[in-house]
Amino acid sequence: MKSVKKLMAAAGLISILLLSACISNEESSGSGEGKLTIGTEATFAPFELMEGDKIVGFDADLLDAIMKEAGLDYEYKNTGWDPMLVGVEDETLQAGMAGITITDERKESYDFSAPYFEATQVIAVPEGSDIQSAEDLSGLKVGVQNGTTGDEAAQKLVGKNSSDLSKYDSSAATMMALQNGDVEAVVTDIAVAQHYVKNNPDANLTLIEDEDNFEKEYYGVLLPKDSEHKEKIDEAIQTIMENGTYEEIYQEWFEGTPDIEALES
Ligand code: ARG
Repeated sequence: MKSVKKLMAAAGLISILLLSACISNEESSGSGEGKLTIGTEATFAPFELMEGDKIVGFDADLLDAIMKEAGLDYEYKNTGWDPMLVGVEDETLQAGMAGITITDERKESYDFSAPYFEATQVIAVPEGSDIQSAEDLSGLKVGVQNGTTGDEAAQKLVGKNSSDLSKYDSSAATMMALQNGDVEAVVTDIAVAQHYVKNNPDANLTLIEDEDNFEKEYYGVLLPKDSEHKEKIDEAIQTIMENGTYEEIYQEWFEGTPDIEALES
């Protein structure tokens, strides 16, 4: 009799253990997505920059608003540019948020969210430089961030294998090279260049815009192909644009009012 009781007690204990194992299992897989890891290259002020060990900027604020609206938990990580691209492609990262231009070429390997910012390339040069337009770049030492649309635009102007083209891993490194005189011009995104010029008056830089040579670009959240999160993220972007949150964030980092209609069309 005693041993039957013991047996039953043991069976009870085992089933409790099994049940709790099931429950905790369900918690880790059942919470579904878990925490998304989102990469960036955080030397791209005012979109993403490091403040201590925190990534701040327009993208950081916008991403936070998007993810809250979408009900997704996430971690924003300064992976660097190339590791971000590799990570989103092999899905060790679930997204990239780094002022990333939506391009047809990238669309072959990735998905993008709806566009959230309009941009174009611009040339940054020391004050007094004779450069007037993008065509004057050929023959000059030009700095770009490797694998960006600025890199692509510069290649078209100075030639793909030109030794005059210096490629850097981060956005900050290109501006540093310009300031040090390692390059004579930098091709980069307009809002980043404007922010740099404004915040570094001693660098004595001017910007050359050239609508004929530099196309309009739009930033999107970079996602793995067929990402299960795209729909929620797009819906969240739309809500944020409609309810004023986007404009609020925009005004914290930029002057004027955003042209939301241009993004939606
Ligand atoms: N918009 C450009 C591109 O997508 C440059 C982005 C660079 N971003 C950065 N966080 N460094 O190619």
